[in-house]
Amino acid sequence: MMPVIKSLLFLLLVCVVVLVSTAGAQSEAEVPLRDQARFYFDAIPHEVPGKELVDHFDEKVALGQRLFFDPRLSMSQTVSCHSCHNLSMGGDDGRPVSVGHGWQTGPRNAPTVFNAGLQIAQFWDGRARDLVEQAGAPMTSPVEMASTDPLICDVLSSMPDYVAWFTRAFPERENPICFATTRHALAAFVSSLLTPDAPFDRYLAGQEEALDDLQKQGLREFIALGCTQCHMSTNLGGNGYYRFGVKHAPEQRYRPQEDLGRRLVMDTISEDYVFKVPTLRNVALTAPYFHAGSAWTLEESVEVMAWVQLDKKLTEQQVDALVAFFSSLTGSLPTIALPALPVSTRETPRPAY
Ligand code: HEC
Ligand code: HEC
Repeated sequence: MMPVIKSLLFLLLVCVVVLVSTAGAQSEAEVPLRDQARFYFDAIPHEVPGKELVDHFDEKVALGQRLFFDPRLSMSQTVSCHSCHNLSMGGDDGRPVSVGHGWQTGPRNAPTVFNAGLQIAQFWDGRARDLVEQAGAPMTSPVEMASTDPLICDVLSSMPDYVAWFTRAFPERENPICFATTRHALAAFVSSLLTPDAPFDRYLAGQEEALDDLQKQGLREFIALGCTQCHMSTNLGGNGYYRFGVKHAPEQRYRPQEDLGRRLVMDTISEDYVFKVPTLRNVALTAPYFHAGSAWTLEESVEVMAWVQLDKKLTEQQVDALVAFFSSLTGSLPTIALPALPVSTRETPRPAY
């Protein structure tokens, strides 16, 4: 009898060990997906963070909205911020690189202006500290709007409505219309372009059915593959700089040799091809991708990323899941009434070419 009891006891022990260990493995593997996601990401806020620190914020936003749509900020009076950052089309221009003054093209893809204010700095190389500094660049860039500080002030001062709007937004200024106030108003408007309530944000907030199974699978892959090393926080990007090509050099069309990225603006950067990690918010709306705008589909960009940044080849299922997850990052676009702009007067400088 003894050996039988012994072997029964042994069997029982084995069962207990197996049960305990699978229970342990299960609980480890199943840190709920939402908790993992909450560790890395935050929802897009409904209100502009820090707006209470800006005097007359609402007046500045209202003015900035008109300026954003006004092509008279450009020398030819045909190019507005909206030409390259179309708010009906993902906040960008859907082109590899933008077309500006005199049909000239610039070297880089236009990023979306949606949620841009939530980033640590502006431009692909982070050369503008904030939206105020950023807004000055396109107006005076010869390939974009090709205007000058004095010309912009002359144009705006020539229209009484603008004088009234600037005075309302900057009542403390003796001469409210100048290049600096134009930049501040544009920055206030751009900072207000938030896109909250994406399915992903609703999922983070606890709405289980906000993501379908494939999107959840994509989120799981995104975390497991390590995309979150760089694409994290509120914007799934926009808060750090990394080399494009950590593990392998991307093909020349993705990473043209002449654009050294942050190296061009910071002496202290020791590596070439360091760029700001772009936001993945609304990424399904903003093809083509990468700073040279050379990848036309998300499938392609995801494969390139996994290979050049993480040394990983993805299966078709992984790619599909990641792309499905990205579609859950499209938020509610702000409702923006097309502003009626004041008519040019006799004093308004004429368009030039
Ligand atoms: C001719 C096309 C064009 C026009 C006009 C234009 N932009 Fe841009 N914008 C771009 C391109 C291209 C970039 C990226 C340039 C770079 O990173 O070097 C950019 C970058 C930006 C960024 C930074 C986004 C980020 O994620 O880094 C903001 C914000 C922005 N533009 C706002 C504006 C505003 C405001 C105006 C009007 C004053 C304007 N743009 C006019 C093409 C344009
Ligand atoms: C080491 C940092 C890092 C990792 C890891 C990383 N990325 Fe990126 N990602 C970047 C940078 C930097 C860029 C901008 C590249 C450029 O210069 O065009 C980028 C660009 C992208 C873009 C293009 C966005 C646009 O608007 O042009 C997508 C999509 C993307 N990443 C997805 C992913 C996915 C999916 C993963 C995981 C498989 C991943 N990334 C892993 C840093 C990273």
